[in-house]
Amino acid sequence: MITTYQMFIETVVPHHQLIVSRTDLHGNITYANETFADISGYSVEELMGKAHHIVRHPDMPKSVFKELWQTLKREQKWQGYVKNLRKDGGYYWVYAEISGVYKENQLVEYKSMRSPVDDEIKIAMQRRYDEMRKEEEGVSRVVVYLKNEHIQKIQKLAHEEGCSEDSIIDDFLEDSLF
Ligand SMILES: Cc1cc2nc3c(=O)[nH]c(=O)nc-3n(C[C@H](O)[C@H](O)[C@H](O)COP(=O)(O)O)c2cc1C
Repeated sequence: MITTYQMFIETVVPHHQLIVSRTDLHGNITYANETFADISGYSVEELMGKAHHIVRHPDMPKSVFKELWQTLKREQKWQGYVKNLRKDGGYYWVYAEISGVYKENQLVEYKSMRSPVDDEIKIAMQRRYDEMRKEEEGVSRVVVYLKNEHIQKIQKLAHEEGCSEDSIIDDFLEDSLF
């Protein structure tokens, strides 16, 4: 459960900057440039070896990544708009081009080059992804104000049960509403 304003703060990718990363065939980061580290809020060392999922934003529909991986498995280039999560809970938008890296005709890694996105496109994509999550996964983003004691109780329960705070709230609503 994010309880700070940080989730609403956007980091804008400057127009002259290019975010570059490479992964192994399972999506674990094998290379990250300084720009990727700066924009995501992690250090290059922190990013190395981690699953690229580390910057996955909860606003992104699952089907986008499913399609991404299906495209890569067909050994084709994937291009699309991605909202990413910063280490501090903030976000940044990129236009990503992801494709294979070949050595002696053999697929060895994947590489991604990302460039900035115009504001009108960010708004349109946010709307589209919100719709997709609603249609495909039956979930919507909701921001609510809760009492401190309730938040603490939810956090404690989630910790004890080893599940997410969202799922505690969801179970509670399921029990009391239905
Ligand atoms: C080269 C490469 C770059 C990727 N870049 C991102 C990215 O910037 N943001 C992101 O959320 N997923 C990215 N992915 C997809 C992730 O591997 C992952 O599929 C996605 O974050 C969804 O997580 P999940 O597959 O664990 O559900 C990238 C994958 C590859 C191969």
